[in-house]
Amino acid sequence: MSGSAITPWVVGNWKMNPMQADAKALVNGFKELLQNNEIKEENCHLGVAPSMLALAGIQQELASAVRSVYSVAQDVSRIAGTGAYTGEVSAELLKDHQIDFVLIGHSERREIFGETASILNEKVKNALNAGLTIIYCVGESLEQRENGQAEQVVLQQICDIASVVQAEQWQKIVIAYEPIWAIGTGKTASPEDAQAMHAKIREGLTQITSFGSSIAILYGGSVKAENAVELAACPDINGALVGGASLNAESFYKIAQAFANTK
Ligand code: PGA
Repeated sequence: MSGSAITPWVVGNWKMNPMQADAKALVNGFKELLQNNEIKEENCHLGVAPSMLALAGIQQELASAVRSVYSVAQDVSRIAGTGAYTGEVSAELLKDHQIDFVLIGHSERREIFGETASILNEKVKNALNAGLTIIYCVGESLEQRENGQAEQVVLQQICDIASVVQAEQWQKIVIAYEPIWAIGTGKTASPEDAQAMHAKIREGLTQITSFGSSIAILYGGSVKAENAVELAACPDINGALVGGASLNAESFYKIAQAFANTK
């Protein structure tokens, strides 16, 4: 089933970047480009995910943009509420700061920080209970792809959260397919390979939830201005989660334009 009726999302994942002055310049540069009014609200959701430290400040900067740009947390605690948990930021604290979106399951969190399916489930559950919208990342390693396990791995990662997402809550889930071998490497999945996986994810989602045909499925992994148009043309690619290229206002803007223009 095609997901082309879905409003695309373009979200910048700044990861552990940039320094304060550069972040300010980046957000101001992006705001200036938005004044062209070429990317209409109804044609594309926009978001940026700065570091936890910069999140509130960037949100404040974005408040004066000509259109909405969501502030997205890159992570959330597995612990809910408030309490003696040094270094943690809970879903409730995010919500209390008017942060309504969070990335969960990024491969860097899974691989470098050892976040297992059960940890991710706690995060997903807490985020949904607090009313956050989740961009849930999935993706296979190069080895898994070469062994022909890509689909199985990705579908399993989606099934993993099915036990904690209540029926109606699927409306608060966005999926980001990010093949690990394509992240930060300059290697992008070919539009055909990406579309094929997105179609499989779509099929899987429609089996899990009645909202399966309306869930946005973003692609991530070396998305740049140069390949965005081709990716955006794929019927089941409903947007992009952009790392490196989101650190340049013009590149990020062009990617957003590419997806907005498909509407
Ligand atoms: P990249 O990162 O665009 O730099 O490959 C994407 C991501 O990890 O979200």
